[in-house]
Amino acid sequence: MNAAIIKRFLHQFTAVLLLSLPLLSHSLETDTISAGVVIRDPDTIISQKRVFKLGFFSPANTTSRYLGVYYVVSEEAVVWVANRGRPLSGSPSAVATISEDGNLVLIDSRNETVWSTNATAAPSANTTLQILDTGNLVLRENATGDIIWESFSEPSNVFLPTMRIIDNVNTGKKVVVSSWINDSNPGTGGFASGLEALNIPQMFTWNNGRPYWRSGPWNGLILIGVQDMYSPYLDGFSVVDDHAGISYFTAPQADFLMKIDLNSSGSLLQKLWNVDKKSWDVTWLAPSNECDVYGTCGPFGSCDSRATSMCSCLRGFEPVSSDEWGSGNWTNGCQRVNHLQCDAGGPNGDGFARLPFMKVPDFAEQFTPRQEDECQSRCLGNCSCIAYAYDAKIGCMFWSDTLIDIQQFSGVGVDLYIRLSPSDFGKEKDKKVYIIIPVVVGLACISAMIFVAWCWMAKRKGHKPEQKKIFQAEQTFPSDSTAIVLKQESEVDSIEELPLFSFETVANATDQFNENNLLGKGGFGPVYKGNLGDGKEIAVKRLSAASGQGAQEFKNEVIVISKLQHRNLVRLLGYCVENEEKMLIYEYMPNKSLDFCLFDDSNPSKKVLGWRKRLNIIEGIGRGLLYLHRDSRLKIIHRDLKPSNVLLDEDWNPKISDFGMARILGGDQEHDNTARVVGTYGYMAPEYAMEGRFSEKSDVYSFGVLMLEILKGKKNAHFYNHEWSLGLIGCAWRLWSEDDGLAFVDQVIASSGSKGEIVRCIHIALLCVQEFPKDRPTIQTVLSMLSREIVDLPAPEQPLFAEKWNGLPVGTTVATGEFGHSVNELTITAIDGR
Ligand SMILES: *[C@@H]1O[C@H](CO)[C@@H](O)[C@H](O)[C@H]1NC(C)=O
Ligand SMILES: *[C@@H]1O[C@H](CO)[C@@H](O)[C@H](O)[C@H]1NC(C)=O
Ligand SMILES: *[C@@H]1O[C@H](CO)[C@@H](O)[C@H](O)[C@H]1NC(C)=O
Ligand SMILES: *[C@@H]1O[C@H](CO)[C@@H](O)[C@H](O)[C@H]1NC(C)=O
Ligand SMILES: *[C@@H]1O[C@H](CO)[C@@H](O)[C@H](O)[C@H]1NC(C)=O
Ligand SMILES: *[C@@H]1O[C@H](CO)[C@@H](O)[C@H](O)[C@H]1NC(C)=O
Ligand SMILES: *[C@@H]1O[C@H](CO)[C@@H](O)[C@H](O)[C@H]1NC(C)=O
Ligand SMILES: *[C@@H]1O[C@H](CO)[C@@H](O)[C@H](O)[C@H]1NC(C)=O
Ligand SMILES: *[C@@H]1O[C@H](CO)[C@@H](O)[C@H](O)[C@H]1NC(C)=O
Repeated sequence: MNAAIIKRFLHQFTAVLLLSLPLLSHSLETDTISAGVVIRDPDTIISQKRVFKLGFFSPANTTSRYLGVYYVVSEEAVVWVANRGRPLSGSPSAVATISEDGNLVLIDSRNETVWSTNATAAPSANTTLQILDTGNLVLRENATGDIIWESFSEPSNVFLPTMRIIDNVNTGKKVVVSSWINDSNPGTGGFASGLEALNIPQMFTWNNGRPYWRSGPWNGLILIGVQDMYSPYLDGFSVVDDHAGISYFTAPQADFLMKIDLNSSGSLLQKLWNVDKKSWDVTWLAPSNECDVYGTCGPFGSCDSRATSMCSCLRGFEPVSSDEWGSGNWTNGCQRVNHLQCDAGGPNGDGFARLPFMKVPDFAEQFTPRQEDECQSRCLGNCSCIAYAYDAKIGCMFWSDTLIDIQQFSGVGVDLYIRLSPSDFGKEKDKKVYIIIPVVVGLACISAMIFVAWCWMAKRKGHKPEQKKIFQAEQTFPSDSTAIVLKQESEVDSIEELPLFSFETVANATDQFNENNLLGKGGFGPVYKGNLGDGKEIAVKRLSAASGQGAQEFKNEVIVISKLQHRNLVRLLGYCVENEEKMLIYEYMPNKSLDFCLFDDSNPSKKVLGWRKRLNIIEGIGRGLLYLHRDSRLKIIHRDLKPSNVLLDEDWNPKISDFGMARILGGDQEHDNTARVVGTYGYMAPEYAMEGRFSEKSDVYSFGVLMLEILKGKKNAHFYNHEWSLGLIGCAWRLWSEDDGLAFVDQVIASSGSKGEIVRCIHIALLCVQEFPKDRPTIQTVLSMLSREIVDLPAPEQPLFAEKWNGLPVGTTVATGEFGHSVNELTITAIDGR
């Protein structure tokens, strides 16, 4: 039922299977050893939940033996090696043990210590070695329990969740991941990956000390020079600064197996264990193309992997040597064409050219401004500043001297402003400071869409030969992700599967769209009740003609929706498209919408909705959402989950409706960006409302708000207006943290449910409405929490109270505004998001 649980079960199952096979190695069936216990090749010790083993192994094509840590399910995947540079000769007669001085030591057949943890100097320390389920090997002092040594502080070529890649700015000491020499030799190779925390933290891969790959600055949420990080796809990674000069890069423990390998040619490969295929899937790669390699285009050069000529000079710059440049040797980069006025000491007429969607250059200096425009004025006022950029979390970034390792991204990235002489802007505009307005809506829009396509492509890169086809699709339908998905889908399926109703049939069924049959008015047009003559009742959504959606696109959308079949989603029975008319025909839901039942105190059905029914509704919506996010072939982000979009059948089972705004993400794509924010304020996650970033986690946010509303029996917006200024979420948080959760909920359920269950439900909702998407659980986890498959709940962060962002967000492009059917609820609607 729950994929996470099944996955975990499978892990264990496979582990058990492996163990029951006649194995070469013999597990000591313990995860700890202390003085006197010997691990004799080929014995192993195994972590408590049977995830990792410590034992001896030989790399491919050698007979040399090494002591290392590897996965139980994938023994060839070695994550740590003790005697990296000191192989043991072939015959398996070496032992690992705790020596008298308390260290883990490796002793060869000649009774010589080949390797030691060197952690204690005491002649008779009492210590215990344990292998943990994270893959960490820890040596603890018996008396105090303190960890005196751990393998995570001396990584080999693999980064694992909870490992800390440390940069100590005070001492210059770093913990890095370092490559093997080659697949047969785990000795320390030429590549190392680590954190550079000075100034703004960045991750690097170095090739013998020289930068080989650079992640771009950490902005508190993502590494802004890694395109994939703009999606929650690489969620969970963080750079932590202890404010005492020590920073580290880390990732939380997940319930699936994830690792990042640094291979012997310097590539970082993020891999997830595929339980079904019993192999590792590569989900991310760096460098992923030549542009990702540090400084490919030299100083003042910009790299674009999609362009015909990969390298180009920044605006206002020309190749240092056009011969070399022409022959594809870009190492010397570019130089300025016109001198800056600033340098000449004359009147400062320099201006800035805006380069959108960039990977910012290396060597940024940081400044925290009061306002965004301060970046520009500060840079203009200092002649050594040759470029600046702004990121909401970092603040201003400035560059002097040189600009290196710049990349053109598409749809994501930072706007880079480079300082140019007035003559670079052309004569016709005479001497002025030229600032290109930051928000160019159209461009952003188009780029966001190209990004969607690109993202999808990128995720498929290296997996399937479909790449080319998708690229063509992008060219054919540059403006919409749905279309891109459908280009492929329609090759397999056709719309014929779904009944086409004639206009006449629908008009007759609804009594010529009689006002008496009007069920409600959604953002996309009125909904009518109808009767098909055979007693079958239907709901007809008549899309407003102003939608501007073409017939073909509409059909495409219909195909997608018709494929969605789940008992917690409203079923589409057919469609009608004739001339300007476009209509969707759904099954009819006798109990109308949740909105109708829940928020109207005079409605008798409110009394019917006791605790059990409400919990059932919450779980049902959750399952519908999980289907959209995970189970169907296409990943769908609903984007407008709210009570009026949840319909109830005769047995009060919830069914999610209104996919008009849903975005369909292709293949493995996990996130999209939009310049158009559609949705309903009050239900929109802060990152979506403010930055247009939506993902499954923004749906989780809406789900959290919905849960609180179901528990409270009041609308978020109404609540906000009429009661405490805290808002629904703030109120829930306050009462819950004061241990008075029961006071928050509707009287009807307070009297019909158990306190423990209700309070737990509020707790789960608070986890869903946390400010940062990465903190929110997935809908899958939410369901496991609700069903108590997950018993212990993490503590939620204090929510960002609604009023902080409840107004129209600054700087967001909002599509056509339109008041929805409810007065207090501002529905911002883009008819179809294209
Ligand atoms: C091991 O040797 C075989 C045969 O020479 C070769 O095909 C394979 O690539 C080698 N494996 C590694 C990891 O070097
Ligand atoms: C191995 O060396 C240690 C001291 O280094 C010694 O105490 C022990 O007896 C030796 N064992 C054998 C089998 O020679
Ligand atoms: C432990 O110390 C010895 C002697 O100082 C040294 O040769 C060896 O390389 C050290 N081992 C490790 C793993 O640091
Ligand atoms: C280690 O344990 C032994 C007995 O278990 C004890 O005699 C000895 O003092 C302990 N050593 C240390 C350093 O605590
Ligand atoms: C250290 O602790 C472990 C487990 O608690 C125990 O088995 C072992 O005997 C202890 N070692 C010594 C030297 O006392
Ligand atoms: C791996 O490196 C070692 C030492 O540098 C070398 O002797 C060996 O031939 C290499 N093996 C392969 C397969 O390249
Ligand atoms: C390292 O990974 C990259 C990217 O997948 C691959 O092209 C390269 O061949 C790998 N290097 C080795 C030595 O396997
Ligand atoms: C590119 O040019 C630089 C300096 O002009 C030279 O050192 C380098 O070898 C050239 N690289 C290639 C690949 O020709
Ligand atoms: C100008 O910028 C440079 C480099 O960022 C900096 O070192 C210098 O202090 C700045 N000068 C002024 C007057 O702010």
